[in-house]
Amino acid sequence: WPAMACRVHAIRTLQREQDAVILAHNYMPPEIYALVGDIRGDSLALAREAAKSEASTIVQAGVHFMAETSKILCPDKRVLIPDTHAGCSLAASISGAQVRALKSRYPNVPVVTYVNTSAEVKAESDICCTSSNALNVVEAIAAEWGVDRVIMLPDEHLARNVAARTPLSILVWQGSCEVHEQFTPAQIGAIRRRHPGVQVLAHPECPTSVLDAADFSGSTAALERWVDDHRPEQVLLLTECSMSDNLISRHPQIEFVRSCTLCPHMQRITLDGILDSLAFGHHEVHVDESVAVRARRAIEAMLALPE
Ligand code: 13P
Ligand code: SF4
Repeated sequence: WPAMACRVHAIRTLQREQDAVILAHNYMPPEIYALVGDIRGDSLALAREAAKSEASTIVQAGVHFMAETSKILCPDKRVLIPDTHAGCSLAASISGAQVRALKSRYPNVPVVTYVNTSAEVKAESDICCTSSNALNVVEAIAAEWGVDRVIMLPDEHLARNVAARTPLSILVWQGSCEVHEQFTPAQIGAIRRRHPGVQVLAHPECPTSVLDAADFSGSTAALERWVDDHRPEQVLLLTECSMSDNLISRHPQIEFVRSCTLCPHMQRITLDGILDSLAFGHHEVHVDESVAVRARRAIEAMLALPE
C-alpha cells in the first residue's frame, strides 16, 4: 500500500464506498486512533456507540473479543477485524467448558464475567462487567441472588481489587493481562523519586499492590476523563502506552512520564490491515446465534444496572 497520507485517504474513500464505521480502541497507535478512528473509546463504549451508528459495516480497530462484542450487540451489521490473531491473554485464559465446570461445582453462586472474554464465556455467565463498574455489578448480583459469594472471571487482579473493596467473598480465576501484570510498586516508587509530584493512574488489571501505590484507578475511559478533568503537570499512566501517545496530542502541556509497555495483540492492527479489511472484507467475525443470544443477555444485564 502507498505512503501514510495516501493510505489514510484510501481508507476514507473505501470506507464511504463500503458504508463502514471504524471503531478505534484507546490502545490503538495515534495514526489509527487520530487519523481514521470514527468512534474512539474503551471496549464497551465502542460497541455501544457502534450499535447506534447507521453504518452497515463495522471495522474493529481493537482485539478479537471487542469485535465479538460488537457483533453480539449489532447482529445485523457486518463486523470486520483486520487481524484474526489479535487476541488477549485474559480472553485466552478461560473457555466456556471451564465456566460450565465452575457452575456445577458452585451451583448457587452467580458468575460475573469481565468483557475481556470470548462470546462463548459470556454466554455461560450471569452478568458481564467492565473495569469501571465491576464493584457495582458484583454487589448488585449478590443482592439480587441473596448470596454472599460471587465468582468473578477471568482476571485475578481485577477480582482481587474488587474483593479489597467489598465484604462479599469473591471466587477468583487465575487469568491475567500480560501487559498490566508487569507493573510493580517498586517501579512507581522509583518514578516518584525521579518525578516528585507525578500523578500515577493505574488500570484495575494491575496487581492490587500497584493500585495501592497509585493515586487513581479506572478503565481506559476513566483514566482519560481523569486527565481531562485534572490536567496535572506530570502523569504516569500504568496501562498500554499508546494511550499516553493519544492523550499527548490533546494535552501538549502535560508531561506524560513513560514506561513503554505495548500490548502485542493491539499492535497487530495497522493501517495496512484496515485497508485490507475495507478492500477485501478481511476478516468477517461471526458469532453463532445460539451463543450470541445468551452472551447478549449477560451484557444487557450489566447495561440495565444504574451507572
Ligand atoms: P478498557 O475496557 O478499560 O478499555 O480495557 C480494555 C483492555 O483491554 C484493557 O487492557
Ligand atoms: Fe488483553 Fe491486556 Fe492486551 Fe488488554 S492489554 S487486550 S487485557 S492482553
